[in-house]
Amino acid sequence: MYLSIEVTVMESNNFIKYREQLPALKKSIYLNTGGSGPLPIPILEEIKSTYEYLATEGQILIPVVNNMKAKAEKVRNTIASFLGASPEEISFTRCITEGINTIAYAMDLQRGDEVIISDQENPAFILPFLNLVHIKGIKVKKLKIENSIEKIIQNLKEIINTKTKLIALSHVTHVSGIQLPVTEICNIAHSMGILVAVDGAQACGQVDVNVKFLGCDFYLMTCHKWLCGPEGVGAMYIDEKTLGKIRPPFTGVGAQESFDFENDIIVFHDNAKKFEFGGRHLPLYHAMGKAIEFNAQIGINNIVKRSRELAENLRYRLKGLKGLNIISPENKELSTGIFTFFIENADHELIVRRAAEKNIIIQWRTIDLIKKTKGIRVSLAWFITDEEIETLTDFIEKTIKG
Ligand SMILES: Cc1ncc(COP(=O)(O)O)c(C=O)c1O
Repeated sequence: MYLSIEVTVMESNNFIKYREQLPALKKSIYLNTGGSGPLPIPILEEIKSTYEYLATEGQILIPVVNNMKAKAEKVRNTIASFLGASPEEISFTRCITEGINTIAYAMDLQRGDEVIISDQENPAFILPFLNLVHIKGIKVKKLKIENSIEKIIQNLKEIINTKTKLIALSHVTHVSGIQLPVTEICNIAHSMGILVAVDGAQACGQVDVNVKFLGCDFYLMTCHKWLCGPEGVGAMYIDEKTLGKIRPPFTGVGAQESFDFENDIIVFHDNAKKFEFGGRHLPLYHAMGKAIEFNAQIGINNIVKRSRELAENLRYRLKGLKGLNIISPENKELSTGIFTFFIENADHELIVRRAAEKNIIIQWRTIDLIKKTKGIRVSLAWFITDEEIETLTDFIEKTIKG
C-alpha cells in the first residue's frame, strides 16, 4: 500500500501565519536552513509534552512504553505518506550518515567493485565510500555535476560500467542546490542491474519527493533541515524489491522477530524494521511526525513556488555585481531554494562571520572539493521575506564595494 500526503493551496502572503510559529526569526535573518532549519512552536510543544508525559507517568511502565511505540508507528505511516512509500519500506535511522553506512555495508561490496558518487556530495555520502576503498578495495568514481541534465547524463555514461554496483547521490545537492535527474539516472542504472541510493537531506521539505516516481532503491531523509524538525532523527526508505535481498550489517535488539541462541539463528523482521536496533529517541521521532505535518499544512507546492520566487529575486539583485559568480542553476527544472555564489578573491568564511554580526545567517561551502574553492550558500526557505532578501543584497553589495 503506497500512501500519499495531501497538499494545500495557499496565497503566498499567507506564509505569515506559519512564519509567526518560528521564534528564531525574531532574532535573525535565517538563511541557513540547508544547515539546520528554525524549530517551529508546535514541534517544540510536542517535544515538551512528550517529556512531561514520560516524567509524570514513568518512562518504563508498560502502558507508557506501548503508547510511545504505537505513536512511533503512526509516525512511520506519516513518513511513508510523505515519501510515497509503504510503511513496510521505512526504517527509522538516527541520521542520513547512519543510513548510507548501513547500505554501503549491506551491499557486501568486493575488491574491484565500483561506486559512483557525485562531485557535489556532502561528506555524509563521501566518507563511508572512501573508507571502503581502504577496507574492501572498492573504487570510487566521481560524477561531474553541471547545470544541464543532458551533460550530467552524458558524464554518467562515461564512467558507468559493468563493475559499477551502486550510484549514491543527492536529490538536491548541498553545494549548488541543483535538483539532480534521479529518475533518468535510476533508469540507466537499473538497465545495468545497478542500485541507486539517494540523499534527501536538502530535498525533504523543500521539493516534492515521491520515491516511486524517482525509482530509487534507497532514499535517506533527515528532519532538521527543510522540515524544521529536531536533529538526530531520520528515516531510510528501502524499495520492497531490494528489501528481501539484503541483510542488516549491524544489528541488535529491535531488529529481530525472534532468535535461537542454541542454534545461532536470527529471524529478522520481514520489513525495513530489520535495520533498526538499540535505543531510539522516540520523543524526537514523534516530533519528526509533527514536522512533516507542519510542512504539509504549508503545502509543498506553495513551498516550491515561494523558494523559486525568492531565488529569482535574489538572482536579479545580485546579477552584475562585480566579481560575483552564481553557481546555482537558473533553469527552473533544476533550481531550488539553495542559492550559491562566490566572489572572486574574497574570504568567504570572513563574509559569513561579518554577516552574522549583522544577524544575517548565511553559510560558506566548499564548492570544488578538488580545488578547495569556497563560496557562499544562501538557503531560501518559504519563510524568508522580500525585505530580508533586500537586506542581504545590500550587505553583499557593500562587502564587494568595500
Ligand atoms: C546533503 C547532505 N547530506 C547529509 C547531511 C548530513 O545529514 P545527517 O546529519 O542526517 O547524517 C547533510 C547535512 O549537513 C547534507 O547537507
